[in-house]
Amino acid sequence: MVNSVQKAGASPAQWSSRFAFIMAAVGSAVGLGNIWKFPYITGENGGGAFVLVYLGCIAIIGIPIMMAEVMLGRRGGKSPIGTMQVLSRAEGRSRGWVGIGILATLASFLILSFYSVIAGWTMPYIMSAASGELSNISAETSGALFEGLLASPGQLLLWHSVFMGLTVLVSAGGVRHGLERAVTKLMPALFVLLLILVGYATTTGHFGEAVSFLFRPDFSSLTAEAVLVALGHAFFTLSLASGAMMAYGAYLNKKVSIVRTSFTVAILDTCVAMLAGLAIFPVVFAHGLAAGEGPGLIFVTLPVAFGQMPGGSFFALLFFVLLLFAAWSSSISMLESLVSHLHERGISRVKAAIGGGLVAWLIGITTLLSLNVWSDFAPLSMFERFEGKTLFDLYDYFTANIMMPLCAFLTAVFAGWVMKPEHSAAELGQRWHGVWYAVMRYFTPIAVLIVFYTNLG
Ligand code: PHE
Repeated sequence: MVNSVQKAGASPAQWSSRFAFIMAAVGSAVGLGNIWKFPYITGENGGGAFVLVYLGCIAIIGIPIMMAEVMLGRRGGKSPIGTMQVLSRAEGRSRGWVGIGILATLASFLILSFYSVIAGWTMPYIMSAASGELSNISAETSGALFEGLLASPGQLLLWHSVFMGLTVLVSAGGVRHGLERAVTKLMPALFVLLLILVGYATTTGHFGEAVSFLFRPDFSSLTAEAVLVALGHAFFTLSLASGAMMAYGAYLNKKVSIVRTSFTVAILDTCVAMLAGLAIFPVVFAHGLAAGEGPGLIFVTLPVAFGQMPGGSFFALLFFVLLLFAAWSSSISMLESLVSHLHERGISRVKAAIGGGLVAWLIGITTLLSLNVWSDFAPLSMFERFEGKTLFDLYDYFTANIMMPLCAFLTAVFAGWVMKPEHSAAELGQRWHGVWYAVMRYFTPIAVLIVFYTNLG
């Protein structure tokens, strides 16, 4: 059985090494989620307690789910949809489990549609940095610059289109070409640049304040919804419950330890988010900006920090270029579930990537319009939970807070209850299998259900 499963899934392309997989997985995981989303949702949800819950979700839910997804992907050896077909058949279970693959593919597709719009924002910032426009910029001017960008559907559309084009380009050629090489250089550079920014942040005189904002938990300000947001973000930032890790797992060599590799990826991803927080909040406090500013947080604060640093324009340029690359290596992985699936069905990668990219691009237009022309259009306002949420807010909410937790829940049930333990042990190795298995069977599904349940009340 094992052999036929492996054969059915023999994948045409494999990562050249464990390092290459780690880089691709880190490339997928590290992106706007860490640098753009983490700081702003932390600001909106009051800091410390939220960060602690988020770290807890990464450690005890995210990492085991990552192991499960990479394990399923490697065992099935196909796209997430194909993998779930192979595995449900191999386990002699209902084909309904393919639903996991479908849900994951839909989630990543929907995420791609708005992710591309946000990633597009980096490009006008690259231009502003290059032209010196950001030097000595004040907090007000920076805010106005950002508002100006959001108010212009034409500009947003241009950059959204360019970014989607870049994503399609790599995806059409196959993830291993280019991606592997680029990411191994760019990820370390981003890391170093964040360290420099944190170094600068220590000179603002508000570093201590930021540290206590981020790490001193005040549980009285923690809402049930914030816990759901933290859980959803743990999946989002690790590229889980969206097929990305499953799809990349399919290209992973049998000899590589999934347990060790998952830890490495999750730790690196978390470090980047923490560094981003430490770089941003001191500047926020130093300039009296609002921590709960929302999605514009880094785009408003960081130019102010760069503007005052020696050599700031250069660092700003470098930062936004690296952020663009980080977003790019993430968006490619979002398209992978769909493209690899269409490819299995006989459609060429080029056609699949162009077709998928085009539809995501179209949906993305509704996101960019929510930032201006449709900013008052809140279609689900009759429900209290969705009051005032634009289409963009809703896409974000549905993917991170509903689809991803649901998909992770089903993945845990499949890996913990449906799949035979001998099969998961064969992939994960005996040493850690017992703990992982117990977590998958009991802890993860129950924890996700509790978070959901408390939010319904
Ligand atoms: N993890 C990516 C980030 O933090 C986003 C992502 C989500 C990538 C889902 C792939 C799949 O930016």
